[in-house]
Amino acid sequence: MTIVPVALGARSYDIRIEAGLIARAGDILAPFSRGRTMAIVSDENVRPHLAALQASMEMSGIASEAIVLPPGEATKSWAQLEALTDRLLDLGIERGDHVIALGGGVIGDLVGFATSILKRGCGFIQIPTTLLAQVDSSVGGKTAINSRAGKNLIGAFHQPAMVLIDPQVLDTLGPRDLRAGYAEVVKYGLIDDPEFFAWCEANGAALLAGDPAARAYAIARSVTAKARIVAEDERETTGKRALLNLGHTFGHALEAETGFSDKLLHGEGVAAGMALAFGFSVAQGICPGADADRVAAHLRDTGLPHDLASAGIAASGETLVAHMLHDKKMDAGTLPFLLARGIGQSYLDKTVSLDDVAAFLDRQHVPA
Ligand code: GLY
Repeated sequence: MTIVPVALGARSYDIRIEAGLIARAGDILAPFSRGRTMAIVSDENVRPHLAALQASMEMSGIASEAIVLPPGEATKSWAQLEALTDRLLDLGIERGDHVIALGGGVIGDLVGFATSILKRGCGFIQIPTTLLAQVDSSVGGKTAINSRAGKNLIGAFHQPAMVLIDPQVLDTLGPRDLRAGYAEVVKYGLIDDPEFFAWCEANGAALLAGDPAARAYAIARSVTAKARIVAEDERETTGKRALLNLGHTFGHALEAETGFSDKLLHGEGVAAGMALAFGFSVAQGICPGADADRVAAHLRDTGLPHDLASAGIAASGETLVAHMLHDKKMDAGTLPFLLARGIGQSYLDKTVSLDDVAAFLDRQHVPA
């Protein structure tokens, strides 16, 4: 088993990674159960993993109660939050209990937020079942639901007590979701680890084809990077954690333009967004063109969107920039951007002109 610590003082916790971990999780969860029934929140898509988890818990003498929610982004709502907190209260969950979130980012975000407010905060454990949740959203304590005004606008920082990652569950994840999660893996190379980006270029195809060693390595390296960044800047106040948003500002505009729908998954938006962030950095004279070409080529080779056309976006630069103004990273009326001086050299730039961004995006529609 690989264990990656997240060093956050009194809120420190471990990320445990091992193939087949869900079916063996009972003994690891036992110290958290305190002899009481543990609630597991999950969704319809992960029922087989839920059955394996409950069987393992039963073998370890832990009683569990499953709450199975509808899959999909719509579950991150006030209505589902209310229903979930009512249900957890009915179950008699105490502050010292740990609720298990078994699922992708939707379940992790909802359960994290619900437990941040239940009785002013109780414990929770993340067992992420998508690549995106395994390498990004399950680690670091960002929790949220969506509101009328936008995605993830209502939430809290609430760290899990443990993260259990079973790479074997990826065998049952659809190829499109796998690729979308892989975009967040590539992100860690582009932020500050050029050697890891080179590893992705050499091994990304094997990872996507199901190579267990490549998956385990990429997950461990990704969460190690995330744990380091989160430990340095838990609440995104120094700018360090903001690096994890590489590609997200451009990506957010593309997702908004496609109505946050299945037309463009979050990870796909991030992929195209990273290529655009590199392209814009080149246009600003900050980044060598060869680096941006490498980024776009790798995303293209792995079947991910890597420009506006492959992301299915025909909107003008002005329209896309208007979407960016609803970004929750807006700060005193300006929008900080993650740009890059090269692969593995990302930085936060607070001086970007939105007119330049709009003009750059318009130029992306011109056929080569
Ligand atoms: N996904 C960005 C962060 O956790 O900060």
